[in-house]
Amino acid sequence: MLCLTLTGSDVQESLNQYRDHADAVQMVEVRADLLSCVDEQKIVQLVQTIDVPKILTCRRVRDGGRYKGSERSRLQILERLIPLGFSYVDLEDDVKRPELDALAHEHGLKIIRSFHDMEGVPGDLYTRIVKLHKRGDIPKAAVMVRSINDAIMLFKIEKELRDIPEKVIIGMGDYGIPVRILYKRTGSLFTFCSPTGTSAASGHLSPEIMHDLYHSDRVTPETRIYGIIGNPVMHTSSPKIHNPAFERIGLDAIYVPFLVNDVRNFFQLADLLSIQGFSVTVPHKQHVLPYLGKISREVKLIGSCNTVLRYNTLWKGVNTDFYGFLKPIQEELDGQRIRKAVVIGAGGAARAVVWALRNYYCKVVILNRTEATAQKLAQETGSSWGGLQEIDKITGADLIVQTTSAGMPPQEEINPIETYCFDGHEIVYDLVYKPKRTRFLQKAEAAGCKLVYGMDMLVAQGILQFESFTGSTFPDDLR
Ligand code: ATR
Repeated sequence: MLCLTLTGSDVQESLNQYRDHADAVQMVEVRADLLSCVDEQKIVQLVQTIDVPKILTCRRVRDGGRYKGSERSRLQILERLIPLGFSYVDLEDDVKRPELDALAHEHGLKIIRSFHDMEGVPGDLYTRIVKLHKRGDIPKAAVMVRSINDAIMLFKIEKELRDIPEKVIIGMGDYGIPVRILYKRTGSLFTFCSPTGTSAASGHLSPEIMHDLYHSDRVTPETRIYGIIGNPVMHTSSPKIHNPAFERIGLDAIYVPFLVNDVRNFFQLADLLSIQGFSVTVPHKQHVLPYLGKISREVKLIGSCNTVLRYNTLWKGVNTDFYGFLKPIQEELDGQRIRKAVVIGAGGAARAVVWALRNYYCKVVILNRTEATAQKLAQETGSSWGGLQEIDKITGADLIVQTTSAGMPPQEEINPIETYCFDGHEIVYDLVYKPKRTRFLQKAEAAGCKLVYGMDMLVAQGILQFESFTGSTFPDDLR
């Protein structure tokens, strides 16, 4: 079940939020700590109007909420609101008030006994959940996920604590996003989301994203999991390519973003969740190579991999960047209108770009911040190289390709070749797709250059990736 945390500062705003999202959620949480005034009559109206189960919560600041008053007055608020028609009340594990528990039971509320760790995942997480369960309540753990290892700990709960059928597991922060989307794989009864444009807790997604994009509530043990790994990765548009296409071909599958700090640990998580395949983005396109038991001809040639697939008991790496990059400039290449190309950057993405261009016999110049990396790639591919300051080497280029992460948040102000003046005849291609018009592209546009957007490549490589994940053709109407 998907639970919408109402974040309105008054009852009317909260009601509007529910109405906007009613189709996507099966529960709501009324957070008394977010209301500017706790007016029982208005809350009764809220409770009676919303016809799905409701959780009553009044969260303290130290647990991630906004309630700043004394503990005594907080418990008094709960005492006043419990009889108003809620289905659940959230009481923190340190609240030892038998009379409050009794009041909740008298009014037919189930108690969610929660604990919060805003710093990390405690080592005794499982013991704590068991202890809460022994009090006869629904245990809830909301913990800050700081690494893939932390996420592994949460996903293992499904098996380790299978004997506790009713529990709520929340992974906060960006590393916790997969835990929220795949909450059913932790054995969690439900997960929370916030109305569009608001966020009640770190990592809350909107109902549109949780429901319309990921269909998290439809995940079963049979659902095939795919994803994307990177750092940063939360800005990615790839889920919008894959999830609707899975749905269109009727495949029970989900594609989830994983923020990954350590690729080795991610492979452990991939085994735990039986992940079937994943995309690889900055900065892991080369980091994944040691873990691949089989690689395609392109990966071998390029030395970088953007797609990993399960292949019997092994992982197989392929590279769809190679053809994905070529697609938007295919006509120019076929018409031999690109003789000299300049590639900015020499990382994993640049490797695919340089090899693809060399495949068309283009003369390539690689300019990179770290010159030694440019030199290495240039020597492997028979190209020329230089530092970013050597803009004279760009003169006469028919194509300039920007492959670095400069231009994407948090580096949106950076144009890696700021001092270069476009002459207007170059085709200018930026692999960054968010924002669509990077600073680099804006400058090229002002000079009258033909632009190629990163989104075109993203979609082209994503379609090929989808086809290698599923063995099915990408649906025409979603192209
Ligand atoms: P990817 O797999 O997406 O190519 P990567 O392998 O980490 O990611 O490579 C990142 C590229 O962006 C590198 O060429 C990097 O330059 P260095 O080799 O000097 O690190 C480049 N890069 C990242 N941030 C940059 C910036 N602010 N200015 C210039 N180049 C940048």
